[in-house]
Amino acid sequence: HEEFTKVKNIATIELGKYEIETWYFSPFPPEYNECVKLFFCEFCLNFMKRKEQLQRHMRKCDLKHPPGDEIYRSGTLSMFEVDGKKNKVYAQNLCYLAKLFLDHKTLYYDVDLFLFYVLCECDDRGCHMVGYFSKEKHSEEAYNLACILTLPPYQRKGYGKFLIAFSYELSKKEGKVGTPERPLSDLGLLSYRGYWTRVLLDILKKHKGNISIKELSDMTAIKAEDILSTLQSLELIQYRKGQHVICADPKVLDRHLKAAGRGGLDVDVSKLIWTPYR
Ligand code: COA
Ligand code: NA
Repeated sequence: HEEFTKVKNIATIELGKYEIETWYFSPFPPEYNECVKLFFCEFCLNFMKRKEQLQRHMRKCDLKHPPGDEIYRSGTLSMFEVDGKKNKVYAQNLCYLAKLFLDHKTLYYDVDLFLFYVLCECDDRGCHMVGYFSKEKHSEEAYNLACILTLPPYQRKGYGKFLIAFSYELSKKEGKVGTPERPLSDLGLLSYRGYWTRVLLDILKKHKGNISIKELSDMTAIKAEDILSTLQSLELIQYRKGQHVICADPKVLDRHLKAAGRGGLDVDVSKLIWTPYR
């Protein structure tokens, strides 16, 4: 019995001013099977086989930002909320694009059920996507994030942590705790571990007296299990007399905070204009 592996067909894409090498297979429609390079409109995310087609398209395409509501703006950074049901083609294009950089995720092409939070750097030419995360409109498992991607040219600049922080700010506004859908990729887990560590240790550093996992969870919207696993992996937690006890030695906390990397870009909550989906 022969195993067929899905071979990566599209090797590079053009998107805005970037030419980007792809990482993984993505199930584009069969008519794109022969293509080694695809040309994306950076605004509507339609993709084309030839540069001339893209150039012709760019003269006609009216979009200068993702379709949907701008729910956050701070400096040149804007976040747009795109409803997969109202903007189906855009959402599907985004999934095709994202899968090029996501390994194991089974992307849901039933985009109706998701909201897409698209982060952009804006200038006088328009709003240029740097990354996004998707979120189920209704998650029974309390997932507050399904897929997350920072486009390769923008990686390692703190956008991933910004997207993660943003997903928790939405959860806080919903009055819920959240957790990312599993499995996480290696890079995804690294980013989450860094985020959780920084947020939790910042609180522990400032806090006087006892604090419980539940209280930490209420303050951060981080699910209790994720708090426990983060503190356990840092060996900051002990189990004594049937209770978890958190170590808060300032020197130890500072050492871990240093190791957790840079803080990245902060979400300015006062610039978030958003009401939960109903
Ligand atoms: N090597 C080592 N550590 C890395 C790394 C790399 N290539 N990329 C990210 N990290 C770690 C670092 O700890 C980094 O913090 P630091 O720069 O302060 O050291 C932290 O993750 C987050 O960095 P940040 O710049 O905020 O993230 P990003 O914008 O690069 O985005 C992902 C992170 C996961 C969104 C991005 O790598 C990505 O899109 N990957 C492909 C898609 C994917 O795997 N998504 C997750 C699926 S669950
Ligand atoms: Na990240």
